[in-house]
Amino acid sequence: MARLKVAVLISGRGSNLQALIQAAAAPNFPTEVIHVISSFSSADGLTYAIKAGIPATVIDHRDHTDRSSFESALNLCLHTAGAELVCLAGFIRLLTAEFIAAWPDKILNIHPSLLPAFKGLHTHKRVLESGVRFTGCTVHFVRSGTDDGPIIAQAVVPVLPEDTIDLLAARVLEAEHHLYPLALSLVATGRARVREDVVEISGNLWPTSFPQTLFNPGLI
Ligand code: GRF
Repeated sequence: MARLKVAVLISGRGSNLQALIQAAAAPNFPTEVIHVISSFSSADGLTYAIKAGIPATVIDHRDHTDRSSFESALNLCLHTAGAELVCLAGFIRLLTAEFIAAWPDKILNIHPSLLPAFKGLHTHKRVLESGVRFTGCTVHFVRSGTDDGPIIAQAVVPVLPEDTIDLLAARVLEAEHHLYPLALSLVATGRARVREDVVEISGNLWPTSFPQTLFNPGLI
């Protein structure tokens, strides 16, 4: 089986990159990580690429005079590597509409909230301040607005009374590491497709035991 060639773009810790590398270790997983691009040479996540023997390139926007030169470098690297799909995983540079249009429905992102709620930075702090009882994470196709685009998959995580930003972030991150490989495999196998800017998923992925309603606080 030919596996879809995925490039992962990071800027820091790289734990989602590692989740995608680990998922691809399963022989029947439909994608392989063929290249990693980091916007910082100091990104810890680069070590995951090195350990896995995956080629990595640092493309730092500060080495470029403008956004267009930075994105040309990204594009060149992606095409040279033979990338067919791009996964953003904690990549902090915003991509222009031109770049996104050059990769139509070929760029995925993961965000640590239930989009379209809590787009942008400092998500978990804002979630705690807002008093919502559930949060989670979302994998979506990238559009030019911040954390905007057709939703592929989401995971729901409860917000608990004793939560701190770190506790909540860790609970959501654990869900992210399962969600990103799931969403990526749906896209790579053609089961998740964009239609009129909404993602349709084919096949039955909704087991009968799926909980229909969650309460927080729980019904005791
Ligand atoms: C994750 O929380 C992801 O949702 C967000 O940035 C963080 C990246 O974490 N976009 P890591 O670098 O994958 O560990």
